[in-house]
Amino acid sequence: MPVKAIEWLGDKVRILDQTRLPHEEVYLELSYYQDIASAITELKIRGAPAIGVAAAYGVALGALEIKAKSRDDFLEKLRGVSQTLADTRPTARNMFRAIDRMQQLAQAGENIEQIKTALVNEAIKIHNEEAEATRKLSQLGAELIEDSSTILTHCNTGALATAGYGTALGVIKQAREQGKKLKVLATETRPLLQGARITAWELKKAGIPFALITDSMAGYFISRGEVNCVIVGADRIAANGDTANKIGTYTLAVLAKEHGIPFYVAAPTTTIDLSLASGTQIPIEQRSPEEVTHIQGISIAPEGIEAANPAFDITPHRYITAIITENGIIREPYIERLKRSNPQ
Ligand code: MRU
Repeated sequence: MPVKAIEWLGDKVRILDQTRLPHEEVYLELSYYQDIASAITELKIRGAPAIGVAAAYGVALGALEIKAKSRDDFLEKLRGVSQTLADTRPTARNMFRAIDRMQQLAQAGENIEQIKTALVNEAIKIHNEEAEATRKLSQLGAELIEDSSTILTHCNTGALATAGYGTALGVIKQAREQGKKLKVLATETRPLLQGARITAWELKKAGIPFALITDSMAGYFISRGEVNCVIVGADRIAANGDTANKIGTYTLAVLAKEHGIPFYVAAPTTTIDLSLASGTQIPIEQRSPEEVTHIQGISIAPEGIEAANPAFDITPHRYITAIITENGIIREPYIERLKRSNPQ
């Protein structure tokens, strides 16, 4: 049975607490939208598509909780719920898309009870659509992977990050299911170690051969000709193809270009934000310096020092060989082709 990052249980949501992996598989049952918001902020659920799904269920849970005197009162309170969820993490486009979609549906509803039912159904629909998109893009992307390749990937982009099949890791899994012989180099992904903790866990479960490397080893392996391509996910893709993804992605893209290997981005179209002309407009989440000075709660640096912690960086589109979406594999010129394949 594939592991489920998130599941709707009728009046509550069950998530796998990703901060406890790989040593413990702990499931949390969340009954309040505020708990969903905290789970997103604390990365108990994480990855752009998965937090989009979580936020949609959060709006649904919040709606079920609301006691209102009138439809207008209900909609006012629902806006507060959505704002709390939207304030959790700024970078992933999927979350804002999901919240907007839930809000629009609510505005169009006739009465409170009908809106509540419609919101629950819509959140389930968003979940199914995200899952299906990742399955489809994985199938399309697998065509780009040559037999007997070594693929370098960053962060975690599998079932847990997507509440579905996966993006970059989905492409890898699909290529493997097609019978291709592959090896993966998975970066540990400092500071929060999504690669070491979660990608390694998913790859081990899937039986895909891999080696875990520290982030700073990527140049060593790429320069020796030991990597055939790099494939990563995305948190937000601007209209010109510039891509925000986990901090360290840009470094990998520059390395790939320098050494003449393809650099692929895999993402559902819900990650694309045509309202932003370029990556410079994508908001970058700044997280607590403590995540850098400590590893899993243990201090590794002198007390009281300054530390920086941008959670994402921007890879300019000129470094990206192709963007793999459920609507097709998109190459330069991104500006026209992203627009054509993703009417928003
Ligand atoms: O901070 P995280 O763990 O939520 O960051 C996740 C990533 O950067 C992923 O690469 C991205 O969301 C794409 S996942 C399908």
